[in-house]
Amino acid sequence: MDIKIPEHLVQYCQNIVKPVSGNPFQIEKGNKGAALSPEQIRRMQEEIRRLKEERRAILLVHNYQAPEIQDVADYIGDSLGLSREAAKTDAEVICFCGVNFMGETAKILNPERIVVLPDTSAGCSLEECAPAAELLKFKTAHPELYVVSYINCSSSVKALSDVICTSGNAVRIVSNCPKDRPILFTPDQNLGSWVAKQTGREMILWPGCCYAHALFTADAVVQAKKEHPWAKVVTHPECLQEVKDVSDEVCSTEKMISYCRENSAREFIIATEANMIYRLQKECPDKLFFPLKINGYLPECRHMKKITLSKLLDTLRTLQPQIHLSKEIMDQARAPIERMLEWS
Ligand code: 13P
Ligand code: SF4
Repeated sequence: MDIKIPEHLVQYCQNIVKPVSGNPFQIEKGNKGAALSPEQIRRMQEEIRRLKEERRAILLVHNYQAPEIQDVADYIGDSLGLSREAAKTDAEVICFCGVNFMGETAKILNPERIVVLPDTSAGCSLEECAPAAELLKFKTAHPELYVVSYINCSSSVKALSDVICTSGNAVRIVSNCPKDRPILFTPDQNLGSWVAKQTGREMILWPGCCYAHALFTADAVVQAKKEHPWAKVVTHPECLQEVKDVSDEVCSTEKMISYCRENSAREFIIATEANMIYRLQKECPDKLFFPLKINGYLPECRHMKKITLSKLLDTLRTLQPQIHLSKEIMDQARAPIERMLEWS
């Protein structure tokens, strides 16, 4: 394939995800939830459960959310599971605890319902890496492209895509794409190159990546294996290929649960966001999980951390902030999301 990604896009994405000095996972001060006592957490959770009933709301929570938020969820899962739940719910209000693109996907699937997200500024570095105007320019220059977009992108990018995928179904989705069209995979080059390898399908890769997952290294895995020689290494596909090459399993956050439950090993090194450990430990209480650290730092997504228990409580009280999108964007973005749900 002789279609090339322009150099300015490569530079643009590199600037978004360039590592910072010190703790690369540092959460900005203003985004750290206030330290709460166990009694305060218990009372707030009680009030959240009461308000959920009163509002006839469903609380959908991503696997990377804080333990005290996971504990009040109606459903916890990965992007695929959350999209499926959003597609089938008949709740009057969808309260989403995750990042903005997840809440937007729920809104696109439920344009008539109220969808709230405790902090709508909770973004994602992958979403930042793919401005819709750049994708439109690229598509216009290469109209033959079939565009597969990872769900971690804006609604405007979804609206320009032929089909959406998640880490849980990307291999299946790409295998289903028309064989006579060249594929452009946006915005995650690390997930894209892994899917290309799994499917044998050559793809043009948008040069985006997740700032947090891209920080894991093969050396860190080797070091962790020295400390836990019997542990299996389970890695998210957003990580670099060098990390995937030294892993026992590469999968979505939800598949991590079934893999660890069904595997005979008792110890696991987990290369993804640190809150995944809470869910894994809860689902597999007889096993041990170790987060893969980088230079001693716990891998935390600064965007996911913007959602706190206090903000969640306020959101259920006020039903704000709500997700609003234009009808035109929602109508255009719905078709590729529904195609994904149909194909997986
Ligand atoms: P999952 O769909 O595997 O949960 O991944 C979402 C995500 O943002 C990973 O960084
Ligand atoms: Fe986005 Fe990375 Fe955070 Fe996932 S971990 S929400 S891909 S920035």
